[in-house]
Amino acid sequence: MSDKNITVPVNIDEQAEANQTRRAFLRKSVAVASGAVVAASAAAQAVAAGGQANADTFLTASGDLPIVATSKILGRGVVSVPYGLPSKYEASVVRRNVEWLTPDTIASISFTPWQDVEGIITPSGLHFERTHAGTVDVDPKTHRLVVHGLVERPMIFTIEDLKRFPQKVGTWFLECPANGAMEWNGVQMDSVQFTHGMMSCSEWVGVSLLDIMKAVGVKKEATWFYGEGGDGSGLQRSVPLPGAKDQFGKPLPEFDTTTIYKDIIVAYAQNGEALRPENGYPIRLLVPGCEANMSVKYLRRIKFVDKPLVTYQETRHYTDGMKDGRFRQYTLVNEANSVVTFPVPDKKMAGKGSYEIRGLAWSGRGKIKAVDVSVDGGKTWTEAKLVEPVMSKCFTRFTLPWEWDGKDALVMSRAMDETGYVQPTLKQLIDERGTSGIYHKNSIQTWKVNANGEVHNVQLRSL
Ligand code: CO
Repeated sequence: MSDKNITVPVNIDEQAEANQTRRAFLRKSVAVASGAVVAASAAAQAVAAGGQANADTFLTASGDLPIVATSKILGRGVVSVPYGLPSKYEASVVRRNVEWLTPDTIASISFTPWQDVEGIITPSGLHFERTHAGTVDVDPKTHRLVVHGLVERPMIFTIEDLKRFPQKVGTWFLECPANGAMEWNGVQMDSVQFTHGMMSCSEWVGVSLLDIMKAVGVKKEATWFYGEGGDGSGLQRSVPLPGAKDQFGKPLPEFDTTTIYKDIIVAYAQNGEALRPENGYPIRLLVPGCEANMSVKYLRRIKFVDKPLVTYQETRHYTDGMKDGRFRQYTLVNEANSVVTFPVPDKKMAGKGSYEIRGLAWSGRGKIKAVDVSVDGGKTWTEAKLVEPVMSKCFTRFTLPWEWDGKDALVMSRAMDETGYVQPTLKQLIDERGTSGIYHKNSIQTWKVNANGEVHNVQLRSL
């Protein structure tokens, strides 16, 4: 990754002859072109992957392991670090921001380093941050959640009150709909941290919205509610309930009104501990599968209403410019998406041989059903292995063995979710949406592996 994290846009249109279509999504592995995805024998694979065949020469004359520095000292005592921290050798694994992207770091965003995060859970300290008026420290003793509007019994809850409700636990991703937004008009960021770091995935614990709705007795006229935050931005977002129509009277899509609200929680814990301040301590709304802006942090109000609020956040931001110059509003769900997290531009390849292509796939509509991987720019595809667990509205890992022949390769992934929706190519997305928008860019990402081991972000814009 270059220091400036910016490269000149690269378009590789000559690769566009590939006749990939959304309907051509492979359901089974097919015969693969040479130099693509094949498994080597175990021994050959170990050597090809960088292991050395002469382990004996590492041992002492008597066949023992050599003495190393750490085996000659006493280490730190327990609780010398009461709240544990990563190894000092992992100091480069941090959230980063893009200085030119926002005027300051108060109304801004930071990115999760997916090049160094394994599995599906994002450590809480690496969860991306999105603030509109900075991170605040809210005192849980004085914080209150007011629930009112079209209800039989307006109520006010302390944090302790909320913890007396039955707990609901779920592992869900949060994705800012601006994830990838810098790439609509060409390659901008030569790093998976910056192309896909506006997303994270955690185990969340809290109170089901359905239980809160029961407690206050929501009236049947309520077709929306909105959450409001307690930071300086006073962020408000409308969330649809059954029967929801937009401000012009047009019904919202069925999925939005029948499915989204059932998973919602008021979250107070994340990955086993209280929410972090950056993530809305002491409570936040958590709207699984939907654009993360709806998951209001520092939540202090839930008000049940019969129409959307049409707030600043629902008009000035979080609407999608379309080809004809008009804007779409209330596009709430993050559609199926995927990205290869190895190889990536953030890491140079160590030479030809055996590797495992690894990546993440996710969908705001449910479970991931399949992921295909290509190493030749979309000419041929192989179905990857999905790593259990595969959960709804959660990141899913995929892997595929790769014998890299040391030549240029174009590595891509495309996801399909349980609804049958297939992640679009960049061309398919731009044909529908144009390039004037910011949000919901879920097109196929391409990484170009060069013969010298460098990996770069490229776009196959006519594919
Ligand atoms: Co949207």
